[in-house]
Amino acid sequence: MFEKNILVTGGAGFIGSHVVRLFANKYQNYRIINFDKLTYAGNLENLKDVDTKENYVFFKGDICNREDIIAVFEKYQVSDIIHLAAESHVDRSISGPMEFVLTNVVGTVNLLQVAKEKWDKESNHVFHHVSTDEVYGSLGNEGLFEETTAYDPRSPYSASKASSDHFVNAYYHTYGLPVKMSNCSNNYGSHHFPEKLIPLMINNIVNKKPLPVYGKGLNVRDWLWVVDHARAIDTIFHQGKIGESYNVGGLNEWTNIELVKYLCRLMDSKLNRSEGESEKLIQYVTDRAGHDMRYAIDASKIEKELNWTPSVTFEEGLNATVDWYLENQEWMNAVTSGDYSKYYEKMYQS
Ligand code: NAD
Ligand code: DAU
Repeated sequence: MFEKNILVTGGAGFIGSHVVRLFANKYQNYRIINFDKLTYAGNLENLKDVDTKENYVFFKGDICNREDIIAVFEKYQVSDIIHLAAESHVDRSISGPMEFVLTNVVGTVNLLQVAKEKWDKESNHVFHHVSTDEVYGSLGNEGLFEETTAYDPRSPYSASKASSDHFVNAYYHTYGLPVKMSNCSNNYGSHHFPEKLIPLMINNIVNKKPLPVYGKGLNVRDWLWVVDHARAIDTIFHQGKIGESYNVGGLNEWTNIELVKYLCRLMDSKLNRSEGESEKLIQYVTDRAGHDMRYAIDASKIEKELNWTPSVTFEEGLNATVDWYLENQEWMNAVTSGDYSKYYEKMYQS
């Protein structure tokens, strides 16, 4: 008998696998149900260190399919939800927006609706929706995204996430569903699918392939170690106020080009290459359409109210991350076989 039966959607993905690992190891009294469709981005290998634990189960299901959600609720008496399942890559949303509408909007509303139908108002349930800072749009040189910043999504991905956030708030205000929300900046760390900047660059540096930097490389992102994001979700899930949202970020802004150059220097030294060797692989390529200029998070609410701060510096987190990819070449080889190479070749031909 478990105290809570927590449904983690998207638990086989990058951030979801870190959330499942943290919760399954930390809370023996909770059952962690990983609900995932296993799209190209979902990989059960990400969880091979927890999959024999008694408080962990995997349920293959699709949030777009109401019957799958009902089935998992009935099988495990789901008491809480941490919702991460999504289409997550901006470039894919530009080439194919509809999949983002279906998964991120329709899928989220399906989940909200089943939770509303199954949960009685007297019990203490939590529906924690994991969202992104991209819903706030794009900053100039100054300023930070606050929880009160008006939504201004610009890519099909961020428009779909903003829409899902609005539905989460609508279910709170209209039906009293006990929701919490977090909006986080760019994550980096182990088990990150190599279509995203950092793992893509690491893989290409290892293989001496071109390093495609969009535009002039001057766009800015605020990077947070994925383990610290999982810690923030744990904190908000347990201590955050119902109906509120919390920004999560690292106060760690880098232009893309400075970040790629830093990675090149770090990896040259780890791979015993001569200084400057990997930087020669940098290629400036056509910019992303509608490329948001700068993201930066004001995380003072979660820091002051819930006492969360990042546990590592960027240098420490990136060092550990690069070591993980160098030690887990098999993981990288597995996820870059098959369809990945077709996608990758198509992307950089254009
Ligand atoms: P990811 O792409 O690595 O993983 C997504 C997971 O969702 C995969 O395991 C996939 O199989 C699963 N999934 C997709 N469609 C599904 C469906 N219809 N039904 C069930 N499962 C499905 O994504 P990620 O980077 O780990 O992001 C997780 C969440 O965090 C997303 O909601 C994303 O918007 C949000 N987020 C990501 C970042 C980041 O930097 N990566 C930052 C802030 C917020
Ligand atoms: O801010 C949070 C968001 O961060 C999440 O909500 C998204 O799910 C996640 O994918 C991420 O979005 P970004 O678009 O910021 O991440 P990405 O890794 O795709 O790109 C980071 C920056 O690097 C961006 O400015 C585009 C640039 N870039 C990216 C790739 C893949 C390049 O210059 N070259 C590349 O090859």
